[in-house]
Amino acid sequence: MSDGLEGVIAADTVLSEVDGEAGRLIVRGRSLDQLAGGTSFEQVTRLLWDGFFEHLPDDLAPALGAARLEVFAEVAALDTGLLDRTPIEGMRALTARLADGDDLAVALRLVAAPAVFTAAVVRAQAGEAPLRPDPALSHAADALRMLRGRPPSHAEAAALDTYLVTVSDHGLNASTFAARVIASTRAGLTSSVLGGISALKGPLHGGAPGPIIEMLDGIGTPQNARAWIEAALDRGDRLMGFGHRVYRAEDPRARVLRRTAQELDAPRYEVAKALEDAALAELRARRPDRVLETNVEFWAAIILDFAQVPADITPAMFTCARTAGWAAHIMEQKLTGRLIRPSARYVGPAPRPVRDVPGAAEIIDRDA
Ligand code: CMC
Repeated sequence: MSDGLEGVIAADTVLSEVDGEAGRLIVRGRSLDQLAGGTSFEQVTRLLWDGFFEHLPDDLAPALGAARLEVFAEVAALDTGLLDRTPIEGMRALTARLADGDDLAVALRLVAAPAVFTAAVVRAQAGEAPLRPDPALSHAADALRMLRGRPPSHAEAAALDTYLVTVSDHGLNASTFAARVIASTRAGLTSSVLGGISALKGPLHGGAPGPIIEMLDGIGTPQNARAWIEAALDRGDRLMGFGHRVYRAEDPRARVLRRTAQELDAPRYEVAKALEDAALAELRARRPDRVLETNVEFWAAIILDFAQVPADITPAMFTCARTAGWAAHIMEQKLTGRLIRPSARYVGPAPRPVRDVPGAAEIIDRDA
């Protein structure tokens, strides 16, 4: 058995290849380094979905804009029970209301949903009315506009778009695997995506950027970075944004987003770079046996901060992007995969009398 299924190949996919040794990510035959900054989120979604959906338009932007308007109808039914949830939980609850149907229409609505629902939940929590989507905008620009109530700058929209492209798909990560397991039961696109959202929100997967911003706030100035890192590791904390199950070289997504943050002259770039350098030096000194490099979440936090996405919304923003990958994997599973049903090795006690089960003796005596 492999702990955490490390190294186990559980599916064949044409969607993306995560080369952990080389630190390389290939999405449908294209290197991430070329895709990020060179293509829009809509174009990468189109690339991922190619061959999996009938009647896929060449330009997905108008269809995705229309889907944002369609899902906005659900926002009218936003109940007060969602107001004390985290943004991703509120968004997940609204997503659960979407009906299954034609695959392409459903997939478009599922990709549209995180942007529309997260903004509606966040605004409702602030006592503000939700904003109707603008289908003429890019998905990234509209996501930011709906969230904040005013259009983003060109640089902010471009930053979010690069982020969405960068994290749109990533092999058989935990949430994609969860989505594929559910898809393998033929439960449908919506149920499978809901499983993906639930897996993604955990701090070891998509919940890291929030704590990373807290970490940067705690450090304050670049000079404090080393002492802060040492204290955290002395306490036995895991440093959010470092380490990866697959990469034994630099996470290429971290490389792309670091470059983007530098090009954009992101306000937190200097302190983030000092923190990264201090963390890598300290991790290398303490764990020479294990490659612990910067992962995507570290620089994602800086890019999302640049785009003025509040830290507690970052897992929901990750969902905005990853839904594109999940939908492709769900369709691939549906077309080519069998029911996913591994086995567990039983390590419990040998069979013993039922009388031992708490409360069973009374029931046996009563029924005797
Ligand atoms: N800080 C300090 N020590 C670490 C870290 C870290 N970030 N990551 C791993 N280690 C240590 C860990 O304590 C363990 O030590 P030991 O062997 O003494 O028990 C050793 O390195 C191996 O760790 P592991 O838990 O076996 O590694 P994993 O492959 O199961 O976990 C991980 C990968 C990403 C969950 C882990 O590195 C981690 O918790 N990182 C922090 C959370 C984080 O940044 N998550 C975002 C992941 S990237 C987004 C994505 O692709 O989903």
